[in-house]
Amino acid sequence: MSSQRFLTGITPSGTPHLGNYVGAIRPSVQASLRSDVESFYFLADYHALIKIDDPARIQRSTMEIAASWLAAGLDPERVTFYRQSDLPEIAELTWLLTCVTSKGLLNRAHAYKAAVDQNTAAREEPDANVNAGLFMYPVLMAADILMFNAHQVPVGRDQVQHIEMARDIAQRFNHLYGEHFTLPEAAIEESVATLPGLDGRKMSKSYDNHIPLFATRAQLKKLIAAIVTDSRAPGEAKQTEGSALFQIYQAFASPQETAALRQAYLDGIGWADAKQVLFEHIDREMTPMRERYTALMAAPEKMEEVLRAGADKARKLATPFTAALRRAVGLRDLRTSAAPLRAAKASKAALPAFKQYRESDGKFYFKLQEPGGRVLLQSLGFDAPKDAASVIKSLQAGAGAALALVQAHLQALPGVSQDDIDSALQQFADNA
Ligand code: TRP
Repeated sequence: MSSQRFLTGITPSGTPHLGNYVGAIRPSVQASLRSDVESFYFLADYHALIKIDDPARIQRSTMEIAASWLAAGLDPERVTFYRQSDLPEIAELTWLLTCVTSKGLLNRAHAYKAAVDQNTAAREEPDANVNAGLFMYPVLMAADILMFNAHQVPVGRDQVQHIEMARDIAQRFNHLYGEHFTLPEAAIEESVATLPGLDGRKMSKSYDNHIPLFATRAQLKKLIAAIVTDSRAPGEAKQTEGSALFQIYQAFASPQETAALRQAYLDGIGWADAKQVLFEHIDREMTPMRERYTALMAAPEKMEEVLRAGADKARKLATPFTAALRRAVGLRDLRTSAAPLRAAKASKAALPAFKQYRESDGKFYFKLQEPGGRVLLQSLGFDAPKDAASVIKSLQAGAGAALALVQAHLQALPGVSQDDIDSALQQFADNA
């Protein structure tokens, strides 16, 4: 069996913190070492433009995040590690997908709906301050995923709806243009911890309770000292449950070390000492990584080289795939022979249908019309609608009988051949 393809994007919109490390970077780097997995990791800088209009911040964050992943042990030889905007194919695929995505689907996206709800609550226009990039975000994300036919997309819960949308969009495209895309699935790591922040809530930049991944030793010490604890004095037994300090320690320590700290809590370790234990532990784990990080940040040309090599690798797949998709939708070399028009092989979902109507002469008519609007058959006038209906019924009953009726009740239309009529009726009989 061929290996499973994992793909995930990281939006370069800030500086990574310990929560990102524990929740995303560390498990991803571990997964990338598995031999049955083919991994794609990319810096989603097109996505970052939705939120950030400060060019220097995008560049800075792209660099910090690339350096973080590399410092944490991601091996660019083993995985495909690239910057989204180095692949113009992504922007192109986004457009092809945009044209098969219903606007209603995007109206229902959580991120967009949340923005609209906020505006409504604030008595603003529903779309106030919503850029079209935010609205289109799920389509861009679908392009990221579908371009590489990823099977599994490791994401947080908040992103699951986007993966479902990518599936919907892929299905629609496949239905229209043939089986081009694998339907992706969200891979949610249940076991991966969400790290609490300094105040005990989930560590997040927006709560301003985070510890930067590559804080200096001094910063790290200061931030750890700021972790919220209760007021129990040294010597009093402490509770591990609900202790942010304990949970952060657990995310970095072995089970034995965790058990030892649990015992120390029971034995009444003072908060200052517990913080010292945590600080020493994280600092020990981070020091070699921090050194690699600092070296990488000082060598932008080296990272640029790594990312460009990654883009070359990714484009080996993306360029020919995009060319095939262009052909599939009809963006084609005019010298290639034209395939038959889709109308000639209408699928079950797009069958011609009978429509009854009344004309200004007072008579009742029907026509056989393709979903695209082309009229294949048009009846003569009937005096009563039930007469028209009974002819339609006969037509639907069987192509053989219908053909006889064609002679008696229908007029030929310019540009419609007998073959067109025969094949439309035949399909009708086959699918009735
Ligand atoms: N939207 C994701 C996030 O904010 C980042 C992302 C962009 C992504 N494209 C992706 C994740 C494709 C998985 C697959 O976290």
